[in-house]
Amino acid sequence: MYFLFYFICVFGKIIYVCTLNISIMYVIKHIKDVKIEIQKFTDQKKSIGFVPTMGALHEGHLSLIKRARQENDMVAASIFVNPAQFNNKEDLKNYPRTPDKDIESLKKTGCDLIFIPDDKEIYPEPDMRVFNFGDIDKLMEGKFRPGHFNGVALAVSKLFDIINPHRAYFGEKDYQQLLIVKALVKQLNIPIEIVPCPTIRESDGLAMSSRNRLITEENRKNVPIIYKTLSRAKELSTKMSVPEIKKTVISIINSTPDFMVEYFEIADCNTFFLINDWAETKNAIGCIAVYVSNVRLIDNIKF
Ligand code: PAJ
Repeated sequence: MYFLFYFICVFGKIIYVCTLNISIMYVIKHIKDVKIEIQKFTDQKKSIGFVPTMGALHEGHLSLIKRARQENDMVAASIFVNPAQFNNKEDLKNYPRTPDKDIESLKKTGCDLIFIPDDKEIYPEPDMRVFNFGDIDKLMEGKFRPGHFNGVALAVSKLFDIINPHRAYFGEKDYQQLLIVKALVKQLNIPIEIVPCPTIRESDGLAMSSRNRLITEENRKNVPIIYKTLSRAKELSTKMSVPEIKKTVISIINSTPDFMVEYFEIADCNTFFLINDWAETKNAIGCIAVYVSNVRLIDNIKF
């Protein structure tokens, strides 16, 4: 049995979380302290893998940490609920926050350093930068959450600058975000490899998400319909046209009580151009956003 014994010592502004196997995980709030610790790894020519998160961690997040652990000498994660990417104040206020549990999970999963800044640390002044991602941020999440991806880019570019990793890990669950981050590093000539990681699901198919804990018990029973319908759409894609598939998916999900599809679109996996005919691409992806009562869930499937 894996017996874990934590003790937490506070030295200056850095908290070290140690286990019996004497590995140390740094929990750091300030940029200058992170830079000092990161520099030590860089001086030793160690490769650094980075996983940015907003906390309330689940197995989906931890799969990114595990992958980073396999591919790098050192693994850093950040927990920062980025106000710039929320276009709804209530959503920001209600976003789940479980920092103590997150620190424990990250330690168990083999993370070496956690950066947990507050808002002022990341945004000492309003960050007025406006990015241009062409068409990628004009549709789907970009259309229904205006300013969201600009906010993601503001935080991610700052975090990349602070951690300066060799590789950064992003989930395919947020597929459009993954494309935005790839575009960001290309545009800014940031020499970081962006590593896509597969979506981790509950046993009934629900894509793991920090927001799942906000779903009512009643709605939770019906939520597997989302991935079930996407999977059925994939099966039917050899027999049905793109518009027919879109119509079918939307009508099945909308017929579930309390469920309302915000969008379901089919696009090219790389360019994210919407398609109307399967012949337009060999690599199509269907992306969906669904309100389940007031909880907004996203998911996708590759065809
Ligand atoms: P957050 O929603 O916390 O997600 C952090 C990372 O975990 C993202 O790359 C996301 O795609 C990945 N992830 C979430 N659920 C997953 C699942 N079920 N399977 C696999 N990966 C999953 O995405 C953000 O935070 C923020 O926008 C951030 C990138 C940190 C910028 O603020």
